Amino acid sequence: VEDVARIVLGLEPHDLAAQVMDYLDRSGRARVVATAGTPEKLARAVRRLEPTAVVGTPDLVLAAGGLNGTAYLALETEESVASMKDAIRAGAHGFFVWPTEREQLARAALGLSTTAPAQSKRARVIAVHGPRGGVGATFVAVHLSAALADAGREVVLVDVDAYFADVAAAIGLKSEPPPRTIADLAPVASELLPGQLKEVLEPHPDGFRVLHAPHDADAGSSSELAYRSAVGLLSTTVDAVVLHLPRALDSVARSALEFADLILLVLTLDVMAFRAGRRALDLIEGLDLVGHWEIVINRASRSEIVPADVHRVFGRDPLAVIPRDRGIQSAQNRGKLIPLRGRAGRRVRRLARDVWGERNDG
Ligand SMILES: Nc1ncnc2c1ncn2[C@@H]1O[C@H](COP(=O)(O)OP(=O)(O)O)[C@@H](O)[C@H]1O
Ligand SMILES: [Mg+2]
Repeated sequence: VEDVARIVLGLEPHDLAAQVMDYLDRSGRARVVATAGTPEKLARAVRRLEPTAVVGTPDLVLAAGGLNGTAYLALETEESVASMKDAIRAGAHGFFVWPTEREQLARAALGLSTTAPAQSKRARVIAVHGPRGGVGATFVAVHLSAALADAGREVVLVDVDAYFADVAAAIGLKSEPPPRTIADLAPVASELLPGQLKEVLEPHPDGFRVLHAPHDADAGSSSELAYRSAVGLLSTTVDAVVLHLPRALDSVARSALEFADLILLVLTLDVMAFRAGRRALDLIEGLDLVGHWEIVINRASRSEIVPADVHRVFGRDPLAVIPRDRGIQSAQNRGKLIPLRGRAGRRVRRLARDVWGERNDG
């Protein structure tokens, strides 16, 4: 194991990144393991590589939603009060001007502990996506959250579907008083603190908590940064995060997907759902994500297409097949969850064990 700091660069100009990388690598004190020129890439690199530190501009780090405890050395080509303030907000351990203070930068990098950052937890992040309406994505996301909570995990269900915000209806949330939502985090998104996040989580009687989508569909796109910081923070503070994705994978959904360890594609046994599933997978596979995907068949009854067709079309068997159950519709209409003891409920409970890797029989 090398005893040098592993650095992720968060610098937009390509030539600057190249110079800094060259210098740090030659110094023998640090090794640049990735460079990121956009907030999305930076957030992803930090999560994927768990570096010793990030060296980068404060605006990029703030736009990435912070670094969740990873050490941060701020770098700018000129000094300004605004960028120093941003560096402090972003939790910088030091501020360096390039190239005049490059030696100090390399020394600071060397001084960092090269042991992995002491992150309290590493949550399992499970994204649930139904590429065709009515397949049961909301049903699966809500009940998977309940089943994980039932198994003793600390679970937060995040409604990333800003346009429909169906989770609130699915759990029978009263509209008075209006619940706190992701929109409440927008003003503090770039420096989100655990206490602020905790305050907006809505506890559900079945043991999980919910981070609701905005009341106002328009607030969705302006909540992108808030979603990124909230999901990033949750992924180091709870056991499981369930992401309820919208039908169309918009930019908010895509940035949430960066955090997913597992993407559950919910489909029904019909041609249109399979077609939507194929298109969704083409898109997901093109995103170069860390997580892998599995298929969940829902509302299964005797039909023309059988689960074996899943293998033919998608190259793998479904992870779960949840039966059609009349009780589900009426429970959902009353804003209630179905019991986990019934036939469909037991199948969801098994899915919860599978996504946790507790039933590793292939
Ligand atoms: N396994 C199932 N059996 C019967 N009805 C179901 C099942 N899963 C979901 N439903 C019902 O189908 C409708 C659509 O489900 P929903 O979760 O809202 O789908 P989506 O979020 O994919 O649009 C809801 O009325 C729901 O109660
Ligand atoms: Mg839905």
